[in-house]
Amino acid sequence: MTMTRRVFCAALAAAPLARPAGAAEGALTAQEATVQLAPKGYAATRIWSYDGTLPGPVIRAGQGSHLRRRLINALPVPTSVHWHGIRIDNAMDGVAGLTQQAVPPGGSFDYAFDLPDAGTFWYHAHTRSMEQVARGLSGALIVEEATPPDVDRDEVLLIDDWLLDPETGQFAGDFSNPMMQSHAGRTGNLEGINGRHDFTLSARQNERMRLRLINGANARIFALRLDGLRGWTVALDGMPLPGVQPVTGPIVLAPGQRADLIVDVTAAEGSPAGLLFAVGDGWRALAEIAVTGRIARTPRAAPPPLPPNREAPLNGLADAPLREMRIEGGAMRGMDGARFQGRDMGWDELVRNGRFWALAGQVGLGEAPFASVSQGETLRIRLANDTAFPHAMHLHGMHFRTLAADGTHGPLRDTVLVGAGEAAEIAFVADNPGKWLLHCHMLGHAASGMTSWIRVA
Ligand code: C2O
Ligand code: CU
Repeated sequence: MTMTRRVFCAALAAAPLARPAGAAEGALTAQEATVQLAPKGYAATRIWSYDGTLPGPVIRAGQGSHLRRRLINALPVPTSVHWHGIRIDNAMDGVAGLTQQAVPPGGSFDYAFDLPDAGTFWYHAHTRSMEQVARGLSGALIVEEATPPDVDRDEVLLIDDWLLDPETGQFAGDFSNPMMQSHAGRTGNLEGINGRHDFTLSARQNERMRLRLINGANARIFALRLDGLRGWTVALDGMPLPGVQPVTGPIVLAPGQRADLIVDVTAAEGSPAGLLFAVGDGWRALAEIAVTGRIARTPRAAPPPLPPNREAPLNGLADAPLREMRIEGGAMRGMDGARFQGRDMGWDELVRNGRFWALAGQVGLGEAPFASVSQGETLRIRLANDTAFPHAMHLHGMHFRTLAADGTHGPLRDTVLVGAGEAAEIAFVADNPGKWLLHCHMLGHAASGMTSWIRVA
């Protein structure tokens, strides 16, 4: 693919002069680049990137500020940017075909929106995302509290995996592989953080860090364990927990989910420390922390909770109608059939069309939304997973709470993992007007049927 003169000129015209990377204003250029993703000795990988790096630049801005970014598309394909987890103005949500037209090669789009919540968010392509995100189009979006917590450092860890052909070092296979889409999705053969398979931090004993974990993988669910660290979970999916939770067991992060941890380095100099992830029945290093020296003699007490973000109380929950969203399809179970492209299709025909999943009897976006509610109404949805695979269901534009059978409410989240054969009930106040996606964040699942939408008017 060659870059046309027009693309080049557009990129030049919009490139801000000497603007620091990661500032709240400026350009974000989707472009091809080459990075050393695989270990030394393997070939470098051609990627699709934001600003030439993998992941894209960390964008940081203050809570309550207004973020402005001009997406410049220097890729050979149309694209758009979704700002995952932000309670955003619908026109800025970045969903090609629903909230905006995809930006053609050589084109640009001005994203401008308020940042109401402090927390850990991320941005990624939302046009053919199962391919574009896999090729590298994602980055962290950090919204800072007015008074940040008392930590020695703040580290963003965008966790990902990549499926590479060891012979060529390039992304392997076709991104809409039916075998992968109808099973657990595209999982990689190389895992890493911030574009590195050997991600390392150095720290001193008793140093306190905020770790902002983001699962940016296409399909892999990461189960993580702390090694040589003592930690507390202080926020999930960007939203502070009312009380900090000591990390005792594994932290499970489905694609799209985030967790903010505050950790103290307990390991002494020379002892192993870091982040491990589960593979098979063992644990493998994902991030290594090299401990040198000591910052204090004793570890500190548990941190206080982060200041809460604004939340509409779940009024009228008892009277809110319960909508059932059945999740059907996939390998092993299949389904009788579902509605696709305006007509009913049987399973065999759906499979011939590369569609394997349905949400509430609908394959992919239908003309009509799954639910249409007026602004301020409370919505309850039961996500019933009748498939043989777990799914990471993500709602755009608003956070929800899960409701347990005993009536207790889970934390505010934007993505919930629903196990195979299980169900999750979510509830939220539909206070953000617009057309909002509700889809599986295993991106191959979303592309082959697991995408639905809700209208709030
Ligand atoms: Cu992070 Cu519709 O996705
Ligand atoms: Cu799924």
